[in-house]
Amino acid sequence: MRAEPAAGRAPASGVGAWTGRLPAAGRVPRRGLGSSLPGPELATTVGSVALGSAVMTASGTAGHGAELGAYGPLGGLGAVVVKSLAAFPWPGNPGLRVHGLPGGSMVNHVGLQGPGVEVWRTEHLPSLAASGATVVASIWGRTVAEYEAAAAGLAEADGVVAVEVNVSCPNLEDRSRMFSHSPSATAEAVEAAGAARLPRWAKLSPNVADLCEIAAAALGAGAEALTLVNTLLGMALDPDGAARGVGGVGGVGSVGSAGGAGPAGRAGGGPAGGDSRGPAGGDSRGPGGSGPAAYPGGLSGPALHPVAVRAVFDCRRAFPEAGIVGVGGVASGREARAFLAAGADAVQVGTATFADPRAPWKVQAELAGWCRRHGMTVKEMIGAALR
Ligand SMILES: Cc1cc2nc3c(=O)[nH]c(=O)nc-3n(C[C@H](O)[C@H](O)[C@H](O)COP(=O)(O)O)c2cc1C
Repeated sequence: MRAEPAAGRAPASGVGAWTGRLPAAGRVPRRGLGSSLPGPELATTVGSVALGSAVMTASGTAGHGAELGAYGPLGGLGAVVVKSLAAFPWPGNPGLRVHGLPGGSMVNHVGLQGPGVEVWRTEHLPSLAASGATVVASIWGRTVAEYEAAAAGLAEADGVVAVEVNVSCPNLEDRSRMFSHSPSATAEAVEAAGAARLPRWAKLSPNVADLCEIAAAALGAGAEALTLVNTLLGMALDPDGAARGVGGVGGVGSVGSAGGAGPAGRAGGGPAGGDSRGPAGGDSRGPGGSGPAAYPGGLSGPALHPVAVRAVFDCRRAFPEAGIVGVGGVASGREARAFLAAGADAVQVGTATFADPRAPWKVQAELAGWCRRHGMTVKEMIGAALR
């Protein structure tokens, strides 16, 4: 067997003020689904949704529309999962949003920046659909009614095959406790997402004691698939940060998984917060102050991979019939195969795309190459570690 390359190049270490947008797409190749797929060995099914390939983009890492199309044929991927959308526009967090870690992992507190479902549908979806991409929309909300409103906005969206329900958001009706941390709140959000009249995929947080309990609630509320997992609570800490004028803890008072966060300095659980509460909202040590600079947020990339594989493995064992999508640290065909063996029907590529925007196609090509060399299909590989 030919060895596959190790995980993708690590992003440059350090703090950046990434805006949540990828470089503008050049001419987007207009290839339809099927014409640019590597072959039938990659075909899979997630719940009721048939995909030409088991490799997708991960929400929040491929823009809102056809941005990534500058780097490869979007119609050649299993699906493009767009950044989470609310029923309203949301600005995300102020600067210093991503912190690269050695080895290719990342802590982000981008926030759920987005134009809102309505604008997305009219201004972003058309170019994405025209690229030939299979589109999965992702939604978020701060109340059950906001999930319902975001979902309802998708009911008229042509060309969207499924809605991923990002529950890593604070629930304003429950003391800003994360939806994702509560079985009943997760169920309510997933149920509300039924307004989209699309297959529902529940995107769950790994920051819980009993993931299967949350997954059972999501499936019981109508989700036909689980996307596992969102980011893990993490913090990058630069011990010399303030001395270098890069700000302090208070600058990211409420931050989170899924890039969720409240405005700077707001103590835990601000609107659109992710799966994390900043330790010291309001305790701002800005440029020129003294002490370390800390960036609490959501950890993604290679460090998350084993956590995500375990989540997939446990949920596949508990829910043999559910659709499962594995996400966390996929940067080569090798990680994709690990997810499939653990029981995932498909995988998503996120953080690796920041180091190499062609990462989803690279992962897909490596997976296809492995399948061909071993005379196997993705469907045959699913759950191999459980047999
Ligand atoms: C910068 C950034 C933004 C993200 N935004 C979202 C988002 O809007 N919605 C969501 O459900 N997940 C979001 N995520 C989480 C990813 O979709 C994915 O679950 C996670 O990063 C793990 O995959 P990875 O290790 O391949 O990045 C974001 C991740 C990153 C790094």
